[in-house]
Amino acid sequence: MSIVDLGTPAVPGERTVDVVVDGIPVRVAPGTSVLRAAAEAGVAVPKLCATDSLDAFGSCRLCLVEIDGRPGTPASCTTPCTPGMSVRTQTPKVEKLRRGVMELYISDHPLDCLTCPANGDCELQDMAGVVGLRDVRYGLDGANHLDAPTDDSNPYFSFDASKCIACSRCVRACGETQGTFALTIEGRGFASKVSASAGEPFMSSECVSCGACVQACPTSTLQEKSVIDLGVPTRSVKTTCAYCGVGCSFIAELRGDQLVRMVPDKDGGANAGHSCVKGRFAWGYATHRDRQLEPMVRESTDDEWRTVTWDEAIAYAAERLQRIQREHGVGAIGGITSSRCTNEEVYVVQKMIRAAFGNNNVDTCARVCHSPTGYGLKQTFGTSAGTQDFESVAHSDVVLLIGANPTDGHPVFASRLKRRLRQGAQLVVVDPRRIDLVRSPHVEAAHHLQLQPGTNVAVVNALAHVVVTEGLVDRAFVAERCEDDSFAQWESFIARPENSPEALEAVTGVPADELRAAARLYAAGGSSAIYYGLGVTEHSQGSTMVMGMANLAMATGNIGRPGVGVNPLRGQNNVQGSCDMGSFPHELPGYRHVSDASVRGIFEAVWGRAIDPEPGLRIPNMLDAAIAGRYLGMFVQGEDIAQSDPNVQHVHAALASLELLVVQDLFLNETAKFAHVFLPGTSFLEKDGTFTNAERRINRVRPVMPPRSGKHEWEAACELATAMGYPMSYDHASQIMDEIAATTPTFAGVSFERLDAHGSVQWPCNDAAPDGTPIMHVDAFVRGKGHFVETPYVPTDERTNRKFPLILTTGRILSQYNVGAQTRRTENIRWHSEDVVEVHPHDAETRGIATGQAVTITSRVGETVLRAKVTDRVPQGVVYTTFHFPGSGANVVTTEYSDWATNCPEYKVTAVELAPTSRAPVTDAEKHAEHRPVAGRA
Ligand code: SF4
Ligand code: SF4
Ligand code: SF4
Ligand code: FES
Repeated sequence: MSIVDLGTPAVPGERTVDVVVDGIPVRVAPGTSVLRAAAEAGVAVPKLCATDSLDAFGSCRLCLVEIDGRPGTPASCTTPCTPGMSVRTQTPKVEKLRRGVMELYISDHPLDCLTCPANGDCELQDMAGVVGLRDVRYGLDGANHLDAPTDDSNPYFSFDASKCIACSRCVRACGETQGTFALTIEGRGFASKVSASAGEPFMSSECVSCGACVQACPTSTLQEKSVIDLGVPTRSVKTTCAYCGVGCSFIAELRGDQLVRMVPDKDGGANAGHSCVKGRFAWGYATHRDRQLEPMVRESTDDEWRTVTWDEAIAYAAERLQRIQREHGVGAIGGITSSRCTNEEVYVVQKMIRAAFGNNNVDTCARVCHSPTGYGLKQTFGTSAGTQDFESVAHSDVVLLIGANPTDGHPVFASRLKRRLRQGAQLVVVDPRRIDLVRSPHVEAAHHLQLQPGTNVAVVNALAHVVVTEGLVDRAFVAERCEDDSFAQWESFIARPENSPEALEAVTGVPADELRAAARLYAAGGSSAIYYGLGVTEHSQGSTMVMGMANLAMATGNIGRPGVGVNPLRGQNNVQGSCDMGSFPHELPGYRHVSDASVRGIFEAVWGRAIDPEPGLRIPNMLDAAIAGRYLGMFVQGEDIAQSDPNVQHVHAALASLELLVVQDLFLNETAKFAHVFLPGTSFLEKDGTFTNAERRINRVRPVMPPRSGKHEWEAACELATAMGYPMSYDHASQIMDEIAATTPTFAGVSFERLDAHGSVQWPCNDAAPDGTPIMHVDAFVRGKGHFVETPYVPTDERTNRKFPLILTTGRILSQYNVGAQTRRTENIRWHSEDVVEVHPHDAETRGIATGQAVTITSRVGETVLRAKVTDRVPQGVVYTTFHFPGSGANVVTTEYSDWATNCPEYKVTAVELAPTSRAPVTDAEKHAEHRPVAGRA
């Protein structure tokens, strides 16, 4: 499939340089290459080593041109346009030279075009035709590379060295686009060859399998195995990745009805043509044999599932939900929306709960990740979302990265960040663990504040203390943009000696002088941006920390322009959207409180139902009420709370107490073990709707195939609502978005039509901002004046002691995604087949633990067994694990402590002890075989 390639990257700036290419005038920005100017004039100059996603390299000599008044035949890809330049691209001289160059390439290339997997999708083949190569005078008898071996070690792509033309596009893609620098061209001249790390197979090299090199390769040397197996695609559909909150745009390429490959969209606002291993390659779960495609019911969780029709399943669920309400009251049922589903699907489920169930018992999985972001940013800035677009980081001089590990969690944003750091921006990492960005090829953090888990607020207060007491406050910004009173109050609070880096050093573990240096850099280093992740929010003071960061940004004037801001790196693909869509028990869509009669009135007029003015139950309250016998029916949309929520023993006990649990999902997940009705869900390849990413960007999700279950998820929710006596129906998902736009001011200008025309828009999108809002709070905060909030540091109640002397903190790994339901069903399993616990060498030695050894991790609430990895990435006293496998049950040990404002669980701080064990970690197969609910602590 051909995607227009203009040869070299666009050069920013005004178009002021006039040139003429083959008699065609064209105006370009200064610095634009002749190759690109020609392409913009509609003149295709042959090329091989150049592509518009990479800086020009000038090695293939195919793009030669003649320029009036200049000697020779310069390479057009490396020659910048100058005013008045007249270029000739098709002279007999350059045509002859190009044929000569091409002849040399082809003379050392397999002549198997007709059977090559890239036949019809190969730039070398195309260029041979373009330059008019008829025959090759040199035989294949001399020295050549035709026997060069193929490296098939990567599960998703192969490297057939016999086809390599040493153009270096892959090497540059790995460096410039991805920022991993795993590839080099080894040797010189005829001996030069592409090498991964130190001549290793791709799979054991530093390669992170992002696929940028595969996309850049002009031949079939680096080739997707799916293309080799299925053939070159013939049609395409634009859609959006359904993994993380970066929200990369993709072109799904198909051959007939078969998805062949996912190609990152160069026009994608979030990713600009890049992706990670998950979005590009790990989509096979959508057709995995484990997909449950038919509805099922059962009376009791002891019974076998019974496959039924959709109508039977809906009627079964509706009848039982209504019976529970008759016997136990309107508030005895509720539901959970999913951050993996589309905005439209989420909106319909919360509408079903508010209008058909008649209560506000709706919550979302954002409860367990970014609810403090919503709360904290709303209090200080007036809106529950990050302030910037991703592109903004290209303008940052200093980046303060707190509790986030972008190279694993948000890889495409990490690549953007690394690019900016290579250009000279400074990085401060605040994290207990030495994440990759602290030091990786061409990147080194100026400061790594390796704090004790649970002391974020102490660190942010100490940073702000330095700003206030060292005269680094941006007084003009504060006077113009922020509240006088709250600032004055905060200033005197933060200036207190107990907030100084020296006073807090013993608590945080961060040396005071290092912290002071980091504060000065952030405050005085130019445009400074804060990016943060779940290492901020999943704490008992998560909301306090979000407000602490907002205070810091406001005090230093780092809000409201490119390169600055406070930016949450959202976990799931649509966690922003699910919150926007009214998934919280106290908020209708657009973050408007249910107690506000005028807001209720808007929805009541459209929905034709009275809305309860009282907030409903949050997830933890639902679980407690279930155990207390007051909450008996629940609808769970695409969320595996039996695995992902803290203290799973408690969650299991609550789920086992329900009279009716309806689960809608792709797979029979851990939660479905407690369910009575299973409704099959749709994968992102079947969905039609929108996702909203971490930068508030609303992206279209377009169906690549019809719903494999026969029904869109929003249709199922409509039918359940209708069966419960509240008629609800839409002809198409676009109608749901129209209803969202009609009821929600920040979405007023959003429609599928506009999204199809613009590609994507960032909310607010309305009459005031018809093209959306890339950067918020530019002239004024959404709430008017910025509000400072005092943020006293309060240590968590979860403390270490002699019995539990270590702190366990959790995170993600690149190849896996959350509870792993999708990625574990792909070849990504090859990179990470079990969760391991990282332990510092000192802590390992005192406990007799070696790498690879099974250890018990015991906390106050539970125990699990994992294999250990001894590493100094974690400081002494801290252990770390991921949570991607049900078998490892990392959440068996996490406690129920939570953020004071939002109940977001304190996943990041659990006091534990480790001990070697002869028990083996529980495998997923063993875990899956457990049919009976686990009796647990109530
Ligand atoms: S897949 Fe990505 S990381 Fe691996 S070599 Fe290619 S560009 Fe580099
Ligand atoms: S592998 Fe492909 S991109 Fe890399 S040097 Fe060879 S032909 Fe060029
Ligand atoms: S960075 Fe996130 S959105 Fe982009 S491809 Fe990877 S998982 Fe998908
Ligand atoms: S495309 Fe210009 S030298 Fe290769």
